[in-house]
Amino acid sequence: MSSKPPVIQLEGVTVAYDTVQVLEDISLSVAEGSFLAIIGPNGAGKTTLVRTILGLVRPMRGEVRVFGRPAAALGRLRRQIGYVPQMHAVDLHFPVRAEDVVMMGRYARLGLFRRPGKADRLAVERAMERLGVLELRRRPLGDLSGGQRQRVFLARALATEPRLLVLDEPTTGVDTHTSRSLYELLRDFQQEGITVLMVSHDVGVVSQYVDGVACVNRRLVAHGRPEVVLTDTTMTEMYGCQAMFFHHGKAPHMVVRMEEQEQ
Ligand SMILES: Nc1ncnc2c1ncn2[C@@H]1O[C@H](COP(=O)(O)OP(=O)(O)O)[C@@H](O)[C@H]1O
Ligand SMILES: [Mg+2]
Repeated sequence: MSSKPPVIQLEGVTVAYDTVQVLEDISLSVAEGSFLAIIGPNGAGKTTLVRTILGLVRPMRGEVRVFGRPAAALGRLRRQIGYVPQMHAVDLHFPVRAEDVVMMGRYARLGLFRRPGKADRLAVERAMERLGVLELRRRPLGDLSGGQRQRVFLARALATEPRLLVLDEPTTGVDTHTSRSLYELLRDFQQEGITVLMVSHDVGVVSQYVDGVACVNRRLVAHGRPEVVLTDTTMTEMYGCQAMFFHHGKAPHMVVRMEEQEQ
């Protein structure tokens, strides 16, 4: 359909920690300007998949390309990726102010030894304003609520002026209203041309915002448009529970009945 090369391309990717295989034979491609959700149960390998795409984990087999280049050898192109890690990966007791966190998003551009300049301060301010956290700029990160912290980290990713934005469960511990406004914001970014890749377990809600879903449970169970992918069979394969979808126009609503005995 498009002549542009995919922003992300995985070909037969298998990842193992020591001898334990976590991802198996994943092939996936993400077109420039799309908004893709990676969904799947806990321990399915979603974070590992993200870290593999970022070149932080080397696959045992297969090939990962980002912006048409090997993920592990992106060089300067790495600056064009904004990354919001899963929250438990963040040390909340680290004594930094909100604006310091956002400025970290500029360091990849700055290099280690240059001090932030006017353009950097402006980018930080703009990103914080966009996320509605500018008035929190001098507050210590540890003082902020879950939702405020998520916005600060998203502002950090935005301050990198990314071409690709990667978020790992950005709505964990955040109420539904805040989640929805975050998804709307991500859709705005998409409309501005940023490719957005987001891990989520918020299946039913997320599918109303994204234009693609990748269901992962060690293997890629399904990949495509949400209204096509999120079928009974896919959900059953993925969660081991009976799931039903009622389609209201484009937005599937999900009812999940857990099996009697949990594994
Ligand atoms: N650094 C690691 N070393 C060893 N095993 C890991 C490591 N990170 C994750 N795992 C294991 O890999 C599997 C997938 O983890 P993860 O990618 O975090 O899944 P998800 O993000 O879907 O919850 C889990 O069984 C987890 O325990
Ligand atoms: Mg995870």
